[in-house]
Amino acid sequence: IHETQRLANIAPIAVPHRTSQDVTFRGYFIKKNTTVYVLLTSVLHDESEWEKPYSFHPDHFLDKDGKLVKNDAFMPFSAGRRACLGESLARMELFIFFVTLLQHFRFRPPPGVSEDSLDLTPRVGFTLSPTAHKLRALDCM
Ligand code: HEM
Repeated sequence: IHETQRLANIAPIAVPHRTSQDVTFRGYFIKKNTTVYVLLTSVLHDESEWEKPYSFHPDHFLDKDGKLVKNDAFMPFSAGRRACLGESLARMELFIFFVTLLQHFRFRPPPGVSEDSLDLTPRVGFTLSPTAHKLRALDCM
């Protein structure tokens, strides 16, 4: 789930915020009342943080024993005091839906379509959403 949110986060950009005072951040001077747009995608795909920034690579979050590894560059819900208020609800829902589906089904492309040929380019709007795909849900119970 972490790697899915890293690679295909629905929010490429955080809500715009405005500086309430003059700020110097990492050598950059930002004047009071400047509107700041935080590009979350640039962090989630940062080549200095992720071994394979543009591929689905769950090992980004796993140690050699298969345990979850945290990375500060994982910020699909943004960071700081105005980060997403619904983060814990969203994470709980993602876990319950995803795990319940994967416990019951194996998902495969339709006959004649290979996994590599699936186009994972998102539909661009204020949020990014997946394009429609046909798939097979194989009962594995
Ligand atoms: C996967 C699901 C979600 C993602 C990736 C997400 C992501 C985000 C992001 C990036 C922001 C902007 C934070 C910033 O400006 O720094 C935000 C703000 C916010 N989100 Fe979410 N969100 C999700 C689900 C939800 C849900 C389920 C709720 C409510 C039930 C929610 C409520 C809010 C609210 C109220 C804010 C504004 C917080 C503020 O300005 O103080 N979000 N979210």
